[in-house]
Amino acid sequence: MQQYIIGNWKMNGTKTEAQKLASGFLKRIQETNRPLPHIILCPSYPYLASVVEILKGSPIEVGAQDCHPEKSGAFTGDVSASQLVDVGCKYVIVGHSERRRHHHESSTMVRKKVEGAIAAGLRPILCIGESSEDREGGKALHVVSSQLDSDLPKDFAPHELLVAYEPLWAIGTGHTPTPDQIEEVLGLMKHELSIKHASGGVIPTLYGGSVDTKNADLFLNLPHVDGLLVGGVSLKLDEFWEVINASTR
Ligand code: PGA
Repeated sequence: MQQYIIGNWKMNGTKTEAQKLASGFLKRIQETNRPLPHIILCPSYPYLASVVEILKGSPIEVGAQDCHPEKSGAFTGDVSASQLVDVGCKYVIVGHSERRRHHHESSTMVRKKVEGAIAAGLRPILCIGESSEDREGGKALHVVSSQLDSDLPKDFAPHELLVAYEPLWAIGTGHTPTPDQIEEVLGLMKHELSIKHASGGVIPTLYGGSVDTKNADLFLNLPHVDGLLVGGVSLKLDEFWEVINASTR
């Protein structure tokens, strides 16, 4: 499977910086002969349209960082999946731990967002992962498995979504799981996804949390890693380009 390298820009930068980054990646891909992974950039809402415009016709796709589960209505400050499709997004991150923590998003809410995104024609990138207490208590696999149960809709086609394993203790901390720990969790995810949710096809499983130029290569060579979800480093042109170039398939 062609790997996925996804840049989550979070709530960073200005419009000019977003445009500069997008144009920078566009230039790099135009100059390379190397086969590339799927590249997806996820800027903040206000910059989506102008980043889509810059990348139009290029293989780089654009995603949002969240969406509301409903199609429309009296939800001040929210943005629906169909509005994201309307401005040219193809993907949306759902259930990121920062949303779960700061906005108290429950699994029920996350599942509704996944359903709303798929119904609108967006491909959700569902984020799941355990806390440090869960990891230390030996509960990481149990937590991931129950999140898969509670956060995914009953019915969906494998090509309709991606699942990213993002242990909470690895996000923005500089700490990462060992390759064995990543393989153990992603192996379990692949197994559960294949028996519970996907008839036949394979759902891409990604890793995210403190990915940088030093560990990307190691992670991307792991058999169950179909891609990376990158935060901080995705805002740095040269470093993120290095991560993109570490893709192995
Ligand atoms: P990080 O963030 O790469 O800065 O750790 C990852 C994420 O939150 O998706």
